[in-house]
Amino acid sequence: MNQFLTPILTVIFLNLLLPSSWKAFLIELIFAMLLWHLFIQESFRSNIFKLHKSFSITFNSIVIASVLSTALIINKFGNVLSTIYLFTALAILLFGEKSAKNLGFFISILMFIHFQEDIWIFLYGALMTLVVVKTLKTVYRRSDVMKSAGIAAIAGVIFIFLKWILTGIAGKFEMPLIALNPFISSVIVLGILPYIEYTSRIYSNIGLMELGNLNHPLLKLLSIRAPGTYQHSSMVANLAEAAAEKIGANSLLARVSAYYHDIGKIKRPAFFVENQIGIENPHDNISPYLSHLILDEHVKYGIHLAKKNRLPILIESVIAEHHGTRVQKYFYEKAKKLNPSVSEDDFRYPGLKPRFKESGIIMLADSVEAVSRTFSGNKSPAQIQAAVEETVMGIFTERQLENSGLTLEDIELLIEEFARVVTSSYHKRIEYPKKGEEGVIDGDNKSNKI
Ligand SMILES: [Fe+2]
Ligand SMILES: [Fe+2]
Repeated sequence: MNQFLTPILTVIFLNLLLPSSWKAFLIELIFAMLLWHLFIQESFRSNIFKLHKSFSITFNSIVIASVLSTALIINKFGNVLSTIYLFTALAILLFGEKSAKNLGFFISILMFIHFQEDIWIFLYGALMTLVVVKTLKTVYRRSDVMKSAGIAAIAGVIFIFLKWILTGIAGKFEMPLIALNPFISSVIVLGILPYIEYTSRIYSNIGLMELGNLNHPLLKLLSIRAPGTYQHSSMVANLAEAAAEKIGANSLLARVSAYYHDIGKIKRPAFFVENQIGIENPHDNISPYLSHLILDEHVKYGIHLAKKNRLPILIESVIAEHHGTRVQKYFYEKAKKLNPSVSEDDFRYPGLKPRFKESGIIMLADSVEAVSRTFSGNKSPAQIQAAVEETVMGIFTERQLENSGLTLEDIELLIEEFARVVTSSYHKRIEYPKKGEEGVIDGDNKSNKI
């Protein structure tokens, strides 16, 4: 899509709704394109917008809707009921700080131009944008939005007071209306958010929190049909959350994605090692080629379930990318014994390779968890660190992380954090000898044999 199509359409719609002179229209058009280039295009350059079209389509729609409704409201009810707080809040919850800031300044300057350079319109827009960016940077609960609305209301009241001092002009109801505006806006934001999340599959942290509370029917089904996978996913979630936190990635997205990354194993749970406790391995009776197809299927079926259940588009990507294009070594070696000329490429997962940091973290956490399950005997922290490092560096040298945005510095921090989490959970897992056994120090028998 032409990068200037949205600002051109926005200004045309704006002038159809609120007509101005040709000269004003042209000035507005030039400024809209310039502002678009300066502010909005910068958002599109960020990694997330390159992943799925849904991000730019939704963001463009929010820009058009916000410009038109803000202009109409200001025209009919005045600046005090401007919807800038509403739309910047929506943008920060769905797209993050930078996009909200860019959107806020884009609308504020455009409104300033459209309403004959009324500086107070720009100042109020800029003020609300700053309040949103400062107060809604990290939101996990609905009450966080209400608190932000309270701060925006106070800021609005101070704004009107200063305007009155400086200009001596104040409308009768300006003070109560400007105080009420953010509260009405926050109610609309929280009400409209689930609809946007469902249609666009772009989720705010509030929506992700709901998906991560383990009550989702898919997770319940996973816990019943594939309890081993369910437990594995919980462990991956712990690892991924801590690791994402360590490198400043989205730890909530990492945790929730981990819960769903193997959801495709609902279909044939017995074919996956973590669910084979007390049962025969069904792979022993089938060809390695069929085993390879079954392993691929858990990725493809996972993607199908993500689409069907309208899970976040980024979680669908994690499902698709968590094995990247890695080779299913065990079945490749098995096939090689039958046919020495078999190619490694015939035993690769379908991919893609991880395309964002959280997706790369899940790939690593998945393998680290699988390796930590094979530990036997008493492992020292140094041995655990070495095993984690070998696993992570193995994936890194396979170039599976080349599109993930993870730097070498990130990888070093991830190894450190994975080793710390595995060490603490592994030492919890080791059973201590029972009372009376050799090596136990108890109050009655002060043996010093450890
Ligand atoms: Fe998997
Ligand atoms: Fe997994």
